[in-house]
Amino acid sequence: MKQYDQGKIPNNVNLSEDRRLQRALERWQPAYIDWWKDMGPSGFQEHHLVYLRTAIGTDAKGWAHFEYVKMPDYRWGIFLSEAEANRQIGFGDFYGEEVWQELPGEYRNPLRRLIVTQGDTEPASVEQQRFLGQSCPSIYDIRNLFQVNVEEGRHLWAMVYLLHSFFGRDGRDEAEELLERRSGNEDKPRILGAFNEPVTNWLDFFAFTMFIDRDGKYQLLALSESAFDPLSRTTRFMLREEAHHMFVGETGIARIVDRTAQLLKEQKGVAEDVRKAGGIDLETIQKTINLWFSLALDLFGSEISSNAATYFANGLKGRVNERDYDDHVAKDDAYRLQVPHTENGGAIRLVSEEIPIRNAMNEVLRDDYVKDCQRGLNNWNRVLAKHGLSDRLKLPSKRFHRNQGIYAGLHFDPEGNPVDEATWNRRRDEWVPSEEDRKFIGSLQKTAIFEPDQMGYWIAPPKRGIDGKPVNWEYVRVEA
Ligand SMILES: [Fe+2]
Ligand SMILES: [Fe+2]
Repeated sequence: MKQYDQGKIPNNVNLSEDRRLQRALERWQPAYIDWWKDMGPSGFQEHHLVYLRTAIGTDAKGWAHFEYVKMPDYRWGIFLSEAEANRQIGFGDFYGEEVWQELPGEYRNPLRRLIVTQGDTEPASVEQQRFLGQSCPSIYDIRNLFQVNVEEGRHLWAMVYLLHSFFGRDGRDEAEELLERRSGNEDKPRILGAFNEPVTNWLDFFAFTMFIDRDGKYQLLALSESAFDPLSRTTRFMLREEAHHMFVGETGIARIVDRTAQLLKEQKGVAEDVRKAGGIDLETIQKTINLWFSLALDLFGSEISSNAATYFANGLKGRVNERDYDDHVAKDDAYRLQVPHTENGGAIRLVSEEIPIRNAMNEVLRDDYVKDCQRGLNNWNRVLAKHGLSDRLKLPSKRFHRNQGIYAGLHFDPEGNPVDEATWNRRRDEWVPSEEDRKFIGSLQKTAIFEPDQMGYWIAPPKRGIDGKPVNWEYVRVEA
């Protein structure tokens, strides 16, 4: 394995050769640890040893290193994917030119905004998930939760590294503010909507890692195309960790669907009886999908966006796998969009309109995301089919329950048909989880399950454990 700098801050960016940067980051470190102890997993900081994967390098061995650690002692490091020799700008007006190793002054503000917005989501999700350890369905699951949490912490480090290295005073200020905002706080909320939403139970958590972390994947894929090479390399390495987060979400829901399907058969298809038997009914799972999928769609920004056009033109944020496209300049194409028009009398009519492709880049990214989500849904539906059930889960329309973009402020049912406000208010609880639903799920998840051989009744066990260990292994233990 390659040897990396293992000082106070493990890294592969030669931190010890840049004293000024090293000092700045070492000053930020104690504030980060304070934040982590305050806002990280509640009740598991002092005495619990967690079997965690720590990135200590960027090659295969270095980033899959497992050991027991107390979370505040986790080695959050700064790792960039290896530089690609002669990398060229892959899209936009500077297509084919050499990528930038330094920050171009004219793109300082938009790049700062992109980095801060991405950086803000990382600590936010840790804050949103901080109480879940107290109701975990198994020791396998709580370990995965903590793995996700420490890696989001490392992603914050990755963004803070960029802010400190390239943005001077402004960057240092932004890095401080990243530790000051709080998810759901009225005065100092996190920047994006979904990251201020409560994650109150494990169904939420799995839906969050399935849908919201997957938004993260697509944002990172788009940023990894960036002409600003340090951003590209940083995000490429983050993507490797992100894969596990989505695995946790997708398999978590698959396991719930598995248990629900089994109970549904036993209870002859009656949803209420599934609940009585201690399972989560499919309707509640569907509503949870509707909620988190729509919150995730908002994160991509408006369907018609001049910011998105400028990001693309300037080579700051690209498309997923840009090299698979034929036309990397994308100046002449158009994107067809269903644009809502309000008629006299207030009814909504959808009109198909053409948008210049660069202005539709958010929507292009959102389409890739939706396809990926649908693949996950298909896997869940295969679980239902395997049990011989005809019920199916589905993604709601892209127009459903939106708070950003051209559908914001209007109402649509999950199929995407316009509905008036009265209908929305009357039927809302059929479409997204109600207080009642949350109470019910809470009643199934009252206490944490820590016995290695036990598993919450409402969820099937996973197929295999972590790092080749059995499912019932002691992934978290109290210090002797
Ligand atoms: Fe992340
Ligand atoms: Fe993540």
